[in-house]
Amino acid sequence: MQASSLSGKTYFIRTFGCQMNLHDSERVSGMLDSCGCLEVAGPEDADIVVFMTCCVREAADTRLYGQCSSCKSLPAPPGGKRVIAVGGCIAQRDGAGLLTNLDNVDVIFGTHSIAHVAELIEEAFADGGRHVRCEETDLEPATSMPWHRAENYRAWVPIMTGCNNFCTYCIVPVRGREKSRPFEQIVDEVRGLVRSGVREITLLGQNVNSYGRDLFGEPRFAELLRHVGDTGIERIFFTSSHPKDLLPETIDAMAEVPAVMPQLHLAVQSGSTRILKLMNRKYTREAYLDLIDRVRDRIPDIALSTDIIVGFPGETEEDFEQTLSLAEQVGYAQAFTFIYSKRDGTPAAKIDDPTPREVILERFNRLVKVIEDSAFAYNQGALGRRVPALIEGTSKKDPSRLLGKSPWNQTVHAPVPDGIEAADLVGKIVDVDVDVARTWYLSGTVVGSPR
Ligand code: SAM
Ligand code: SF4
Ligand code: F3S
Repeated sequence: MQASSLSGKTYFIRTFGCQMNLHDSERVSGMLDSCGCLEVAGPEDADIVVFMTCCVREAADTRLYGQCSSCKSLPAPPGGKRVIAVGGCIAQRDGAGLLTNLDNVDVIFGTHSIAHVAELIEEAFADGGRHVRCEETDLEPATSMPWHRAENYRAWVPIMTGCNNFCTYCIVPVRGREKSRPFEQIVDEVRGLVRSGVREITLLGQNVNSYGRDLFGEPRFAELLRHVGDTGIERIFFTSSHPKDLLPETIDAMAEVPAVMPQLHLAVQSGSTRILKLMNRKYTREAYLDLIDRVRDRIPDIALSTDIIVGFPGETEEDFEQTLSLAEQVGYAQAFTFIYSKRDGTPAAKIDDPTPREVILERFNRLVKVIEDSAFAYNQGALGRRVPALIEGTSKKDPSRLLGKSPWNQTVHAPVPDGIEAADLVGKIVDVDVDVARTWYLSGTVVGSPR
């Protein structure tokens, strides 16, 4: 490896947004590690501060400004100069435009330009100038770059980047159009992960169901699941799935490949066909419910999760009640609920909305209640059962309790068994006899030996 002028410098990365960004941060971290940099716990100790940004909702967008300006009051690092770099979706969206409002930022790098982050930072240290790289044409896959994983027993595996679905509220397509990674490259990567001791992977993409359409003219996600399932990996999760593209063969693969966990995130966004049309989601309420029936026919114990937006412009009480009744009917094990956030440049931003904010908030709270009830009901099904939990560590509140995850993506707690160090169980699967089931977690006692 070539000597880098960054060798010996310290760095800190703060990440906002979804798993895509979290994974991209692991790549940035891997690159800086390979230059001889050292990660530190806070920006105050860092020569290099990297913000990986998100613009999906306004709140995430505005946070960047506060974060960058708070760096101004930090004491200078030992080397004298601190380089601040901004990556992620805001960087990809605004590019050099960000330099005007963020006067202490030295480097801007887009989501396609992660491979160049180290050289941009080196240049900023060397010439004190400001460096921007946000080209869409930078197609060098981040996946060929060094990778710094926080955990050695599980990993995210991006299978594609970008999105071809123009949901009218969504800014995410700033990451560009769908681009699938080569099939064999993904399978080889998972084989390598298995060899290095990884037991659980999450396949990532904005719409994994259309994986391969750009490579083969048709989606090959089901085939990918089967091949990845043959690598020896023990647990496969994937996200996100667009309901319009969930093919019968994918449901078959989910049911038939033992490593594919009985969990499906299927973002519905709204239960009203009228609103779904305005959102450009390309399915109806009935088609979504029919899909859920088909999934449950093949995988009866499936844990379903979803994303729902409340307060899309023009949503009426009747539309909202359709969302509530759909959520009740499906009985989600988990759901991410969002209040609609107007994103400039999206088609929905042009739709006027007379609905008062209090009405939207009140609807949001009603939906949260329905989701809490269904999550509670789902978890109650685990009472009295023996559940295999992949141990991630201990509970933040109580270090004497293990924290793990079930195949149904439930959080599982259990007291650390006598005579065992909790740290020795991280990355192990233990069986837990569940005797408590709450809305967001299960709890019980470890039985048998860890494996
Ligand atoms: N591609 C994924 C899908 O369609 O399932 C979603 C990716 S997006 C990062 C995660 C969620 O953010 C979306 O499913 C949607 O519910 C929510 N979201 C996107 N744009 C939003 C907006 N303008 N306001 C509120 N929520 C939004
Ligand atoms: Fe956004 Fe829709 Fe693409 Fe998901 S599928 S990233 S919600 S445009
Ligand atoms: Fe945010 Fe970009 Fe993800 S906008 S949610 S970080 S794809």
